[in-house]
Amino acid sequence: MQRFAHFSLFCAYLHPIMKRNIAIFASGSGSNAENVIRYFKNNRLLAVQLVVSNKIDAFVLERAQRLDVPSVVFSKKEWESGHEILELLATYNIDFIVLAGFLLRISDSLLHVYPDKIINIHPSLLPKFGGKGMYGDKVHEAVVASGETESGITIHYINEHYDEGGVIYQATCPVLSIDTPADVAAKVHALEYAHYPRIIEEVFSAAAAIE
Ligand code: GRF
Repeated sequence: MQRFAHFSLFCAYLHPIMKRNIAIFASGSGSNAENVIRYFKNNRLLAVQLVVSNKIDAFVLERAQRLDVPSVVFSKKEWESGHEILELLATYNIDFIVLAGFLLRISDSLLHVYPDKIINIHPSLLPKFGGKGMYGDKVHEAVVASGETESGITIHYINEHYDEGGVIYQATCPVLSIDTPADVAAKVHALEYAHYPRIIEEVFSAAAAIE
């Protein structure tokens, strides 16, 4: 009898390894998207197959092109209906979705098809400094203005409310009295690059193993 140290290895023994596909949704610069794409380049279980944006001039589209990952842009109207997006995700056999600086609300139809399969990273320690309108530099400005002594990142599942899905992981960094919002942003970005790909791998490998 064979013994398996991990349940996922046991499942891999029963079924030949089937690679799972990730789509990244991003609206802006895409430095996290790039970091995630690079991390999964030679991963045996997970691959980034698609980048989706709502902004035609988002820098993430250039990053995707450079890294040889197909990208698609949808209009706001298409986002709201959700049908074309679901069709596109089905065409690319997308199993999981990673949000990396994506500014639109995820439609109910997407949530329904991808339950607990969409995760986001937020640049603060939720529930602090979250919610509609709290993104990018606005978060770090609010952290400094309120005299916080620490900030950090929150990686969480997506549900129908902004920044309220179940928390998967948080990491902190100190905020010094001399720190500017740009200083805090730099510390938070460093945490994002260090942890987001690893947590994505853990969460989606575990989800794939029990399917
Ligand atoms: C990150 O700070 C992330 O936490 C938030 O949006 C920002 C995106 O930055 N959700 P980038 O586009 O990945 O550089």
